Amino acid sequence: MKLPIAAPMHNAAAADGAPPAVSAEELCDAAQALIHSRQNISPKRLAAPGPSPAQLEQLLAAAAAAPDHGQLHPWRFVIIPQHKRALLGEVFAQALIERDPDATPEQIAAAREKAHRAPLLLLAVARLGPAEPDIPALERMVSLGCALQNMLLSAHAMGFGAGLTSGQAMTSAHMRTLFALTIGEHPACFVNIGTVNRRKPQHARPAPSEFTSTL
Ligand SMILES: Cc1cc2nc3c(=O)[nH]c(=O)nc-3n(C[C@H](O)[C@H](O)[C@H](O)COP(=O)(O)O)c2cc1C
Repeated sequence: MKLPIAAPMHNAAAADGAPPAVSAEELCDAAQALIHSRQNISPKRLAAPGPSPAQLEQLLAAAAAAPDHGQLHPWRFVIIPQHKRALLGEVFAQALIERDPDATPEQIAAAREKAHRAPLLLLAVARLGPAEPDIPALERMVSLGCALQNMLLSAHAMGFGAGLTSGQAMTSAHMRTLFALTIGEHPACFVNIGTVNRRKPQHARPAPSEFTSTL
């Protein structure tokens, strides 16, 4: 999907060479189409190529555009390059062995393999420790959610598939050690981005009436 260049109506008088303006209606239609066609793509359905370095920069800049009460940027992202994936695989394996000492070699190998799937893999870390101003953790998590959605939608607009993953290893001490998480930092989820090789039907979304009331 190709989004029209986002120059709203009031930008119509832009200087020569500026991107052509699009109407508010076109922009709205494109935004709606982008939002409603996004779907979570599991890492096992993601193949190379992933985003280029320039596209990765755009994805991170999209995250930075998230609402952020108090300008704390209460989150950060850690890129996990291919040559470090084995370290993450080891964390997944150790976390499994700790919660299930009877895990079979096949299960342990499958846990390790999960670290090697998506071409681009990032850990989203929530920063919930002491800060000034002391914005509540709930609000900081909302900011992280918005940053994640900005990334997911941007990746989708670039033509990539993207999905979030978490799981029981997120609370493992090995995870904290690998990512050098400090007090107040919490691994929230992984962001997986790549080229979609197989797509599942989209989940049904709730109707607005299911989650909206009027006071
Ligand atoms: C914080 C977070 C963690 C997630 N972790 C997983 C996961 O471990 N495995 C998974 O299949 N989906 C995971 N998801 C994705 C959801 O399952 C997915 O968004 C949901 O099924 C709705 O599908 P949709 O995004 O295509 O609308 C996660 C989503 C969020 C917000």
